[in-house]
Amino acid sequence: MPDQATETEGPQINRGLQGVYFERSQVCDIDGKEGNLWYRGYSIHDLATRSTFEETAFLLIYGELPNATELELFTAQLKTERKLPDNIYKIIESIKDAHPMDVLRTAVSALSATDPEVTDNTPEANIRKTLRLTSQVPMIVAAQAQMRNDNPIIAPDESLDHAANFLYMMTGEIPSPESAKLMDTDLILHAEHGTNASSFTARVVAGTDANLHASIVAAISALSGPAHGGAAENVMQMAIDIGEPENAADYVKNLRKNRQPVMGFGHRVYRAEDPRARHMREGVRQLSEEMGQPKWYQILQSVVDAMAPYSRLGVNVNVDFYAGVVYYLHGIPEDFFVPIFSVGRTPGWCVQVIEQFENNILLRPLTVYTGPEPREYKQITER
Ligand SMILES: CC(C)(COP(=O)(O)OP(=O)(O)OC[C@H]1O[C@@H](n2cnc3c(N)ncnc32)[C@H](O)[C@@H]1OP(=O)(O)O)[C@@H](O)C(=O)NCCC(=O)NCCS
Repeated sequence: MPDQATETEGPQINRGLQGVYFERSQVCDIDGKEGNLWYRGYSIHDLATRSTFEETAFLLIYGELPNATELELFTAQLKTERKLPDNIYKIIESIKDAHPMDVLRTAVSALSATDPEVTDNTPEANIRKTLRLTSQVPMIVAAQAQMRNDNPIIAPDESLDHAANFLYMMTGEIPSPESAKLMDTDLILHAEHGTNASSFTARVVAGTDANLHASIVAAISALSGPAHGGAAENVMQMAIDIGEPENAADYVKNLRKNRQPVMGFGHRVYRAEDPRARHMREGVRQLSEEMGQPKWYQILQSVVDAMAPYSRLGVNVNVDFYAGVVYYLHGIPEDFFVPIFSVGRTPGWCVQVIEQFENNILLRPLTVYTGPEPREYKQITER
């Protein structure tokens, strides 16, 4: 929404850069009014139901879906990159009790000291770094999950694909095909989303000609806030606080009485339902039934019912509303929910940075100054 300021009062201000176009992009398109999303022209519904994370990451990075040989090679490359230098493990160990987003940010930052191509901003080097980061981010997240419980780190399993291997390293158990598929879908749904706050942040950093690692560290920082990635963590807490489906309506009423947002609802771009939500909704329904805990799905649906009046205002469920319960049912602690978002988003962030470098420009908006008029500096004795 533009600010109230009119032309006679000064320049138009678009607070939060809402509705501002700053660049052209070939990566991702979002129709917020109708609730549609495409990665490089492919509908998120096709990708969520027919693709894999590896295939989707290839699509994002190279612009086209891979053929069978290309996919095999790409998958093998990602597996080869499943390794972290010893000093990164030492850093994670030394801060293992911090919030996992702080640990992830610190470890990715430290990776810049060990990546042989850190300062090489050519597209070829950035693609190689993208592959490395795509494999390293889940390893960092899983290493902390084990270290925090004083467990040995679980080595990656060559026989498992990206999503299944991540779940295995997180939990120590080979996931069922259904669980692996649900995590795979989750990572696809989180892989890219235009110039959301974290990807925009990555582009701002890239705009200064800083390197890919610097951009991704900044993106991780931006993702950590509750208005962005942090929502999944808060939704699960909300479901626990609600406790039983019949409490949902009062809970929502109380939040709204205090003008507090209901987590997992609302979106800067979508006015219709976030198209990613439906895939996670079905997953939560099945998983919570399979695991003999249908209550979680029922609680979430009761919150949806209580929020129905807000749908008219364009406030609907977003992807994070259902994601947290999926992680929870896998026994993953809540503070790891946002890092899982990062695991999915890493290729998307990298691709946004690579695109920014293709036609780079310093991103530097303006603010309208509303502070004091120019005034005289007085010596401290005269104040
Ligand atoms: C994501 C979010 C920051 C978008 O904010 P935004 O673009 O500034 O939202 P808007 O200002 O356009 O919201 C329009 C109206 O809907 C209300 N609204 C937005 N999100 C809401 C929510 N989650 N619960 C209740 N009301 C909400 C706003 O209060 C506003 O009402 P008002 O005009 O009476 O003040 C916001 O919806 C939010 O905080 N959601 C919860 C956190 C979350 O789930 N984040 C993950 C996003 S993927």
